[in-house]
Amino acid sequence: MSGNADALKKAAAEAAMQYIEDGTVVGVGTGSTVNFFIDALAERKHDIEGAVSSSEASTERLKSHGIEVLELNSVVEVPIYVDGADEITEHGQMIKGGGGALTREKIIAAVARKFVCVADESKMVGRLGQFPVPVEVIPMARSYVAREIVKLGGDPVWRQGFTTDNGNWILDVHNFDIMEPMKLEAELNNIVGVVTNGLFAQRGADIALIAREDGVQTLK
Ligand code: 5RP
Repeated sequence: MSGNADALKKAAAEAAMQYIEDGTVVGVGTGSTVNFFIDALAERKHDIEGAVSSSEASTERLKSHGIEVLELNSVVEVPIYVDGADEITEHGQMIKGGGGALTREKIIAAVARKFVCVADESKMVGRLGQFPVPVEVIPMARSYVAREIVKLGGDPVWRQGFTTDNGNWILDVHNFDIMEPMKLEAELNNIVGVVTNGLFAQRGADIALIAREDGVQTLK
């Protein structure tokens, strides 16, 4: 990753700080862009109630900064969720899960009132699908789910050697022709053995902060 790409990620992540309100719980995603957000959040740690985290990795980083990490089950409201994306359209639909944290990310996104996506311009696409769609599966269902995915037109590849924070496995699905992201998201979720999939179309981002060379663009 070049220093310039990191600078763009940092700029997008820091722009999300304007949406953080004192006394509230902050939903925190996963990934290299979110890591910059966590670092920035550390400076506001005494102002917020705490964070809910989408991965063990983010939890560790939050705690290393002394930011309180709360159990999602003990929290009633998550006004804001900040996370990155592997691909995002101008309508806020995304592919996520490159880091394998898609299930917990989707859960917090579902709870959150507002989803703020932070990304550098390389993540913006006209149509989703260049990046393989991650699908989290119960391990014993891996082969069955892969066969069902082939029927849907995708080419699943097992992310070997990787286990999710939930103890499951990931199939990265290449070559999907994603004309209707919401429909495909539902079809994938309908396969028995699928925990969740990395299409965030039904619940996309409400705000996207896209860092470009000439500044951070806000898409709503
Ligand atoms: C992790 C994710 C990340 O948000 C996505 O992979 C983007 O990561 P990065 O900011 O490192 O490019 O969905 O599961």
